[in-house]
Amino acid sequence: MNILVTGGVGFIGSHTALILLQAGHNVVVLDNLCNSSVETLNRVSQLIGRKPVFVQGDIRDCEMLDRLFLKHSVDAVLHFAGLKAVAESVAQPLRYYDNNVHGSQVLLQACADAGVFNFVFSSSATVYGEPAQMPISEACPVGQPTNPYGRSKLMVEEMLRDVAASDPRWRIAILRYFNPVGAHKSGLMGEDPNGIPNNLLPYIAQVAVGKLQQLAVFGDDYPTADGTGVRDYIHVMDLAEAHLRALEALYTRTGAHVWNLGTGRGYSVLEMVRSFEAASGKPVPYRIAPRRPGDIAACYADPAKAERELGWKAQRGLDEMMRDAWLWQSMNPDGFR
Ligand code: NAD
Ligand code: UD1
Repeated sequence: MNILVTGGVGFIGSHTALILLQAGHNVVVLDNLCNSSVETLNRVSQLIGRKPVFVQGDIRDCEMLDRLFLKHSVDAVLHFAGLKAVAESVAQPLRYYDNNVHGSQVLLQACADAGVFNFVFSSSATVYGEPAQMPISEACPVGQPTNPYGRSKLMVEEMLRDVAASDPRWRIAILRYFNPVGAHKSGLMGEDPNGIPNNLLPYIAQVAVGKLQQLAVFGDDYPTADGTGVRDYIHVMDLAEAHLRALEALYTRTGAHVWNLGTGRGYSVLEMVRSFEAASGKPVPYRIAPRRPGDIAACYADPAKAERELGWKAQRGLDEMMRDAWLWQSMNPDGFR
């Protein structure tokens, strides 16, 4: 298949592009590089001797999209492009709605105009808001996300359901990621956040490598086993493989379908610290800090639907996530720069 991967230079998109190429697909990556470096694609080529076609551009540019669809005979779109920093979304909500919601709308229109109806969207467990039950299955109602980033994901999900209902040709997968971490096992590709990381694992990794002094653990008074927040961390390569399975699942399904992508197992912040120390052999000093506004105590997936319908189950455990994250961080202390 000819697959357009928007945001394919970013963390999850680049690992997925690699998997797609390895599976024999042709890949066109569209990215405006607002949060990534093209060096990522050189690493893909270094690893597998093939590189996606790269188009530098913005998903909101409808004329460019029309040309791209025409030129590359696209069969399916994997839509990763988006802004994802929660605090930034609170400060700049219009930028987030423009990029994530309006951007997705322009992209969907271009797909429809080009007759491309296979579409996979990167959503997030954040759409469940404060979950009513644990583990979280797709049958749980979506909640009220606590920030504009989360609301932008929910709005796109709703747009996709409306679009699917309007025309039976659409085949749409909405993938709700839990907490993606880790890196390619070579240490050549991984997560390269701009500035000081917001997410736990990149922060821990930068403390271990000596770039940051100390981790602030946001709260130790949650109703969890050790009082710190519990999340479902999933290896980025497992996540990437799930996209291939989702594309295949759309061969036999029309309409819009939701799948959780998690492991089903939650780990606390302190378990993550200890596990990273064991994998890296480096100390990760930390202090207990106040809770971060908007955080919830625990969040982990019921991944049974993905196993049943996609034939996909996360294969990599916490040790592997930590080992690969550390290899990437220690080989590339300054990321792709
Ligand atoms: P990322 O920032 O590494 O990758 C996103 C890519 O999209 C970047 O390369 C960026 O340059 C590009 N981009 C952004 N806006 C664009 C636009 N208007 N036009 C073209 N390119 C644009 O992020 P990621 O972690 O790889 O996340 C990928 C997707 O998965 C995002 O939609 C994100 O919201 C979603 N998601 C991520 C997580 C996570 O923890 N990483 C969790 C749940 C969902
Ligand atoms: C965050 C986002 C969520 C997004 C997800 C994946 C918030 C409120 N939510 O979720 O919308 O989908 O990332 O990108 O930002 N922690 C610390 N110290 C740190 C960083 C994190 O103790 O320096 C704790 C957090 O309190 C949490 C856990 O580590 O308990 C994981 O945090 P993080 O990696 O930011 O992910 P989420 O909070 O799940």
